[in-house]
Amino acid sequence: MIRPVIRGTGHYLPTRVVPNTEFSKTLDTSHDWIVSRSGIERRHFAAEDEFTSDLAIHAARAALENAGMDATDLDAIIVATSTPDFTFPAVATQVQAALGMTKGFAFDIQAVCAGFVFALANASGLIAAGQAQRVLVIGAETFSRIMDWTDRGTCVLFGDGAGAVVLEGQPGTGANTDRGVLACDLNSDGRYRDLLYVDGGVSRTGNAGVLRMQGREVFRHAVEKLAETATSALDKAGLSAADVDWVVPHQANLRIIKGTAQKLGVPMERVIVTVQDHGNTSAASIPLALSVANADGRFKPGDLILTEAIGGGLSWGAVTLRW
Ligand code: ACO
Repeated sequence: MIRPVIRGTGHYLPTRVVPNTEFSKTLDTSHDWIVSRSGIERRHFAAEDEFTSDLAIHAARAALENAGMDATDLDAIIVATSTPDFTFPAVATQVQAALGMTKGFAFDIQAVCAGFVFALANASGLIAAGQAQRVLVIGAETFSRIMDWTDRGTCVLFGDGAGAVVLEGQPGTGANTDRGVLACDLNSDGRYRDLLYVDGGVSRTGNAGVLRMQGREVFRHAVEKLAETATSALDKAGLSAADVDWVVPHQANLRIIKGTAQKLGVPMERVIVTVQDHGNTSAASIPLALSVANADGRFKPGDLILTEAIGGGLSWGAVTLRW
């Protein structure tokens, strides 16, 4: 059988770093409040003339370099994003053009903060089905473009950035000791739209809109659903939380990350945390965290990695993979 293996990772963060104190200049909030409720200390915001595709292209080049590959080696590009440059074409085709890749195919996936997990599962499916051998999977977002800067309950939480991985199909034995993606678990429940959504869009309002969130309700669903999907993605691979070397969670909020790890019984020393520096970068947060941890040498060959994410929809899911 063919296993989709991560061959390289890369990321990009815009140069402008915004500390929490920036928000207390215009809003009734404080560094201490933001840190105590979310764990976030700073985030990056894209420049006015810097777009989601620009972030994605930087991350893509870094991942290809890390993999020792050229764009011509790729069969497909998938970008997970809810903040595309244009309504269409897909950000993925802009990345394709910028990389000089003229064959294969490219498309976007929109599952908000769960977008990267959905994209990774789709890329794995394409590889397993023999439709592609090498797929570049990117999460890229400019959530600073959909903030209501007067809403202190949301605008302090998000950041901009991009992360990417190169997946390659390699022969496996079918056992859970194989390298690569072992199991995926995807879920959505559209009844929860009003908990977390953007109040604009092409068909409904004709403008981009801003993010609206019932924070406490999202929090309540998050810990429960993340622990469930993580357990399911481990079960499907015949594994349990005790086998996990690293949890790479969606970086929304340190309290959600800790609550989920606790529910799974995984100690925080085995959880990759970047939320303090990046804020919530939605679909970009997991590939960013994967790339940061790979760059500092934390992952060893054979390590079992569990990724999990939840976001607007609600949509949530998890992937187990061996490094
Ligand atoms: N600074 C100071 N006070 C604030 C701020 C702020 N930035 N934001 C809200 N408050 C106030 C509220 O107005 C409220 O005041 P009140 O009691 O006078 O009405 C008080 O703090 C408590 O508000 P809550 O929303 O109940 O605070 P909570 O402890 O739930 O923390 C938070 C809010 C951080 C949003 C939390 O609910 C949360 O993390 N929810 C999860 C949502 C999340 O992470 N979403 C990310 C997108 S989804 C995803 O990626 C998973």
